Amino acid sequence: MPLERSFVLLKPDALARRLVGEVLGRFEAKGLKIVGMKMLTVTPALSKQHYAEHVSKPFYPMLEEFITAGPVVALAVEGPGAIAVVRAMLGSTNGRESALGTIRGDFGLSRQMNLVHGSDGPDAAKRELAIYFKPDELHTYATSLDPWTCADDEK
Ligand code: RTP
Ligand code: MG
Repeated sequence: MPLERSFVLLKPDALARRLVGEVLGRFEAKGLKIVGMKMLTVTPALSKQHYAEHVSKPFYPMLEEFITAGPVVALAVEGPGAIAVVRAMLGSTNGRESALGTIRGDFGLSRQMNLVHGSDGPDAAKRELAIYFKPDELHTYATSLDPWTCADDEK
């Protein structure tokens, strides 16, 4: 499983509900490495770029209102199979239906206010990371824990 980078967005409800530390802690405890992080407010234009696949859907106006309603935290996380791992950690879209043990399942009750976005595949990860981060805002660094994250043939 190759080392991958995924894009994660802690949505305005995660900040409003003071869940940033909790969610970040889950990614760190899992063994994912934070290689980019910034706080910003999503503009309507940025929302349309990020959620381009949804712009023409009936729920898009509500999604844009929600995602622009307060600051967010954008993350780049790295690890073996990181893209699928993050999606599994988030759970399904609707917090009411997400399995317990997932972030949305443990902390959410909403389909729209589901706390965290994660890239749904390698193409999306590449596209979304480029939207939110300049190349020099993504960091490559080694830590003493790296040898304990997984075996060499899993990287
Ligand atoms: P995300 O893109 O944010 O990681 O979420 P997802 O893949 O699980 O869900 P997706 O279908 O891509 O929907 C994007 C976000 O739009 C809101 N949504 N509202 N009212 C609705 O029917 C509806 N459906 C989706 C959610 O905030 C969802 O995460
Ligand atoms: Mg999605």
